[in-house]
Amino acid sequence: MATPDSPTPLIGSLQKRLQQYALQPRLVEQGTVLSVGDGIAWIAGLPSAAMDDLLEFEDGSEGMVFALDQTRVGAILLRETERLTAGTVVHRAGRILSIPVGDALLGRVVDPLGNPLDGLETPACAARQPLDAPSPPIIERDFVQTPLYTGVKIIDTMIPIGRGQRQLIIGDEGTGRSSLALDTVIHQRAQNVYCIYVLIGQKRSSVVATLETLRRYGAMEYTTVVVGEAFALPGLKYLAPLAGCAIAEHWMRRGRDTLVVYDDLSTHAYTYRELSLLLRRPPGREAYPGDIFYLHSRLLERSTRLAADHGGGSMTALPIVETKQGEIAAYIPTNLISITDGQIYLDQHLFAAGFRPAIDIGRSVSRIGGKAQHPRVKEEAGQMKLDYLQFLELEVFTRFGAKLEETMARKLSRGRILREILKQDRLHPLPIEFHLAWLIAFNEGLFDGFSPQQAAARLPLLEERVQTAGLRLEDPREVWVRHLQDWLQT
Ligand SMILES: Nc1ncnc2c1ncn2[C@@H]1O[C@H](COP(=O)(O)OP(=O)(O)OP(=O)(O)O)[C@@H](O)[C@H]1O
Ligand SMILES: [Mg+2]
Repeated sequence: MATPDSPTPLIGSLQKRLQQYALQPRLVEQGTVLSVGDGIAWIAGLPSAAMDDLLEFEDGSEGMVFALDQTRVGAILLRETERLTAGTVVHRAGRILSIPVGDALLGRVVDPLGNPLDGLETPACAARQPLDAPSPPIIERDFVQTPLYTGVKIIDTMIPIGRGQRQLIIGDEGTGRSSLALDTVIHQRAQNVYCIYVLIGQKRSSVVATLETLRRYGAMEYTTVVVGEAFALPGLKYLAPLAGCAIAEHWMRRGRDTLVVYDDLSTHAYTYRELSLLLRRPPGREAYPGDIFYLHSRLLERSTRLAADHGGGSMTALPIVETKQGEIAAYIPTNLISITDGQIYLDQHLFAAGFRPAIDIGRSVSRIGGKAQHPRVKEEAGQMKLDYLQFLELEVFTRFGAKLEETMARKLSRGRILREILKQDRLHPLPIEFHLAWLIAFNEGLFDGFSPQQAAARLPLLEERVQTAGLRLEDPREVWVRHLQDWLQT
């Protein structure tokens, strides 16, 4: 028998191995689901969980920490299997939420986590971008100086948008808000701008209609559609705008000009309120959680024009918001008005009266786009806008049967012509050269002999002539006037 002082070789080597073995205890925090329902879960036992932490449930479900109280953690679910029940074990994933990004997303329809919804294979993306990223600091930003043409007469002339601007589309239900955004996306075909259309909480029929329109007009080639459908988990609807923004951010950082449409942020706010109430976060005004302003401003602050030495790309944002009975002083609309660089206000009365797009010119503004507008267009549009606003005032006045002197009567008839010219069908965006043509023609009084209907009937001809003549914005005004005289007199 070997004594402890003289161990056999086998025991000796075992002892040596044991001495070398460093015990490394690994602490894995484990939580248990207390309850699940309505797209959220309450969890016990994740003491070091922090807000926005990603959670992995044992059954394959996924969630994100959204509320913390003394004894439990509230999570929004981002993926839910049928097996998720009380008692399911859950761990912190130890990574932050990100989405695959890159050119493979062009032409694709994805959910807010980047999973394909178009029945095709998973997009082959090499890069990932965090859903929630800080906005670019001031030194990385540049001024808005290039126009973003929407193709819409009223917008491109009187409420111009620049690349990197945040322009709100605001109006009641069914006033043509989505149509304006779609026209803008369709018009980017020849403008070299990548588009991201984010659909939040819309029913499947509207989603299908939007996709169908984008396909029909060849816009999918340069567009990604992010969908958080009406019946999707509320957590996904909440993330949809962040995902759209992250996709655009990737391209912007690589020097691309991008356009993101958020359709719409009212639904996003409702979803956020619903989740916050379910998770017992203290409600504030209109029962929205107090940080709803912060949420939307953080999202829209990520849109900008980057300085040339930081990539030089841009992200233009067109958030859409809904008003009730034209009330723009409600909580979410006022928040968004103050966050954005201007708004396009759609009016239900104008819409009902057949003035479409139903843009209320007096109540719409663009605070920075004017700097990017071509000086020729700006000059002509300034004069026309003044005439139009005067006409609207004058028209109210004449409703009381006031008798007008001749100059006033002339202003009135010119205004009626202008109103007819400003109407535009949806899905018919027009190039900026055409806008300059009708502006000059109107300012020169070339439509004056016509009735409003006759004037409007000349526009398709004008459109065709501008295209074939190849006139450019820089061409001298006299050249434009000469051509326009020829075209409109024939
Ligand atoms: N410029 C236009 N000319 C003619 N019809 C239009 C125009 N713009 C929109 N419409 C019509 O008005 C209706 C509502 O338009 P749209 O869906 O764009 O509005 P919305 O404000 O987005 O509505 P929703 O509240 O359903 O989201 C549609 O039937 C559309 O065809
Ligand atoms: Mg809509």
